[in-house]
Amino acid sequence: MSDIKLCVNIDHVATVRQARGGIEPDPLQAARIVEESGADGVTVHLREDRRHIQDSDIIALRDIVVGKFNLEMALSDDIISIAKRILPDQITLVPEKREELTTEGGLDVRGYFDRIRSVVEMFHEKKVIVSLFIEPDIETVELSKKSGADYIEIHTGTYCNEFYRPGSRRVKDEIDRIYLAAERACAIGIGVNAGHGLDCKNLPAILGAPGLEELNIGFSIIARSLFIGMPAAVKEMLRTIKR
Ligand code: PXP
Repeated sequence: MSDIKLCVNIDHVATVRQARGGIEPDPLQAARIVEESGADGVTVHLREDRRHIQDSDIIALRDIVVGKFNLEMALSDDIISIAKRILPDQITLVPEKREELTTEGGLDVRGYFDRIRSVVEMFHEKKVIVSLFIEPDIETVELSKKSGADYIEIHTGTYCNEFYRPGSRRVKDEIDRIYLAAERACAIGIGVNAGHGLDCKNLPAILGAPGLEELNIGFSIIARSLFIGMPAAVKEMLRTIKR
């Protein structure tokens, strides 16, 4: 049985709440339910436009999440200073564009190398684990290691899109890229996480990626919760992971 961990991204519980500007559904309740259902932790993305998760959510989540509390965030001064006050267990640095529907592409580690290295140092001083959300690309894996980050999170979005593209011939190539990036990460001593676009159908093919420790999965679990309930949706994902 695999011991790969699952952190559930609960951003879209907040997306529904924000649709009416009220207090329901409550992301805190979602965090409690996913952990009670067996998830190893909770992930949220505090976006610069605050379209779903709010500052008050992460302050409250910090107190109630029992497992790993992973904060996805852009390299922005505003968000960095909030993260330094909250001190999640892990930060995952992501690129962010205001107009995007969801995170597109991985972090430009080469372009922002000095900035990333200083953020890694800043959070290491505070004993916070740092992960970089990157494309499955060997050079980027190597630069991530050089930056001092503890983990890469392999962006599985391209693979997942190909998986659902009728007649796609690139699925195997995308799986190979993920495995090669993970293999290189293991060889040079940086941890391997993965996420984006994963669901119970496309996940099995990547579970054998070398050294894979943790998955961050949100949308498919929250969407499935509408029909079978959140505990069942989390358990279904855990069965897929731990088969
Ligand atoms: N990992 C990162 C870095 C992300 O930005 C996201 C989306 O917020 C996810 C994982 C989860 O992706 P999904 O919601 O498609 O499962």
